Amino acid sequence: MPHDVSWDDYNAHQWGRVPRASLDLALDATSGEPGVAVDLGCGEGVEVAALLDAGWTVHAVDGEPAALARIVDRHGSHAALHVQHADFTAPPVLPPADLVHSSYALPYCPPAAFDALWAEVREALRPGAVLAVQLFGPNDDSYGDPEMTFHTEAEAQELLAGLEILHWREEDADGNAYTGPKHWHVFHVVARRPA
Ligand SMILES: C[S@@+](CC[C@H](N)C(=O)[O-])C[C@H]1O[C@@H](n2cnc3c(N)ncnc32)[C@H](O)[C@@H]1O
Repeated sequence: MPHDVSWDDYNAHQWGRVPRASLDLALDATSGEPGVAVDLGCGEGVEVAALLDAGWTVHAVDGEPAALARIVDRHGSHAALHVQHADFTAPPVLPPADLVHSSYALPYCPPAAFDALWAEVREALRPGAVLAVQLFGPNDDSYGDPEMTFHTEAEAQELLAGLEILHWREEDADGNAYTGPKHWHVFHVVARRPA
């Protein structure tokens, strides 16, 4: 995200959209039995709400307190909702999970903190767990932002070593972002830790 827009602005405009396709793909890849899910960089909680509706226990993690407060307001004291305010630069300890979803969020971790955050993501995956993430590539318009992390295709594949890749789509195309027209270079990934 260009830093002329706050995450609170962005997140507050997300409620009402449909859940990310990455969540549908990830849910299709699970056993069908709801378990424990982490939504890392959950934003406004569109995917959090979908997961709660589907019977999952959800750990909603984000660095933006206003969005987390709205999630809590929306779901009240839902026993299956756990909200964690955390910054990617001090990697949150994630619970063991059957599903880790992180849509359009990990690239906003600064490079110096990315490896530790990714280690937490990998650590959270129980045997058989499903991971759904977007990573940004070097052709993305935001490439060069020092507060963001980008990966080549080979580097993205390297991050997934040891996982079974269930879905891999490279998007390298003009499109739209919250801030206006944008060239996107995104690796959309769904993978599973072998059981
Ligand atoms: C593009 S939004 C994606 C939100 C949601 N997952 C979605 O798909 O709409 C990126 C999210 O990452 C969060 N974020 C960005 N940088 C962060 C950081 N350093 N630590 C924690 N969260 C961060 C923002 O607050 C925002 O909610």
